[in-house]
Amino acid sequence: MNQSQSLPTVAIFGLGIIGSQAADHIAGGGYPSVTWSRNTRDRSDYEPDPKEAAEKADIVVCYLKDVEAVRQVFHTIKPVLGPAKTFINHATIDYETTEYLVAECAQMGCAFLNAPFTGSRVAAGNASLVYYAGGDEALISSLQPLLETTAAQIMRVPSPLAATILKLTTNLITASTVQALAEGLSINAAHGIPADTYLSAIQPNACASTLIEMKGPSMAEGDYDPHFSLSNMLKDARYMLDLAQRAGLETPGIANTTDQMQKRNDRGEGEHDFSILYRQFTQQ
Ligand SMILES: NC(=O)c1ccc[n+]([C@@H]2O[C@H](COP(=O)([O-])OP(=O)(O)OC[C@H]3O[C@@H](n4cnc5c(N)ncnc54)[C@H](OP(=O)(O)O)[C@@H]3O)[C@@H](O)[C@H]2O)c1
Repeated sequence: MNQSQSLPTVAIFGLGIIGSQAADHIAGGGYPSVTWSRNTRDRSDYEPDPKEAAEKADIVVCYLKDVEAVRQVFHTIKPVLGPAKTFINHATIDYETTEYLVAECAQMGCAFLNAPFTGSRVAAGNASLVYYAGGDEALISSLQPLLETTAAQIMRVPSPLAATILKLTTNLITASTVQALAEGLSINAAHGIPADTYLSAIQPNACASTLIEMKGPSMAEGDYDPHFSLSNMLKDARYMLDLAQRAGLETPGIANTTDQMQKRNDRGEGEHDFSILYRQFTQQ
């Protein structure tokens, strides 16, 4: 038996910035695979019928956009899910949808792993995502080789819900940092200090971060080629606000950043990188 005959078949749903590259790595890892996305793709493994795609697979893996996409797709393929299948969610979703997937899969006897991730377009290309994996320990162990085709690290977290909460609250820092960086760049520019001088001043400072290194130069150049889209960061911010509300907390920092993202989104900038937050101060 050759390697691919012994590996489970994987269906990859959602061929966006991350899913398209993840699908290549999963196939490259020797897994027989099939892909589906809402809009047709020119790929030899593309299956236009989502139910067919799920039916052909042992493991369904989702890199879909948001809760609407995940719920719609899950509802469509639910009739072919069951005890012989595993459903893995990699999308960043909300509290309620995480609980919904846990309950639905448990009822069907379908194994479920919630594994949202950190890592952007470049990390997906390098197969170096980091998954926050919340689910049954034995299930995570059995899925480790598959997850490693796309990831540098699989971090086990206490539960599927914890994975969602950890992912959203790390994005809270990411969105807030980029908003702060946009404000800092603008104040410096208004006082005649060039962006590269400001970014050099940040480097030895305790506020320096990989994120600022990634986003600072492109923001200064007005380059908003999407690595992580504004519309996706905006939906994450809304899910974060829901988490805060559920906990009875007011979170004015992320609430204000959400308002700024909504304004940019309303101007039709949703598919640009979320660092387009800087546009509130420039017209680049
Ligand atoms: N990019 C990043 O840096 C990053 C980092 C961490 C987490 N994430 C999360 O990972 C997930 C995927 O991210 P991404 O950047 O790859 O997103 P993306 O480029 O926006 O791709 C989203 C995918 O969802 C599909 N989709 C959207 N609405 C749908 C609907 N109503 N029904 C069915 N399919 C729908 C799209 O299909 P079509 O293209 O076929 O229309 C596309 O394949 C998101 O939850 C995101 O928040 C992304």
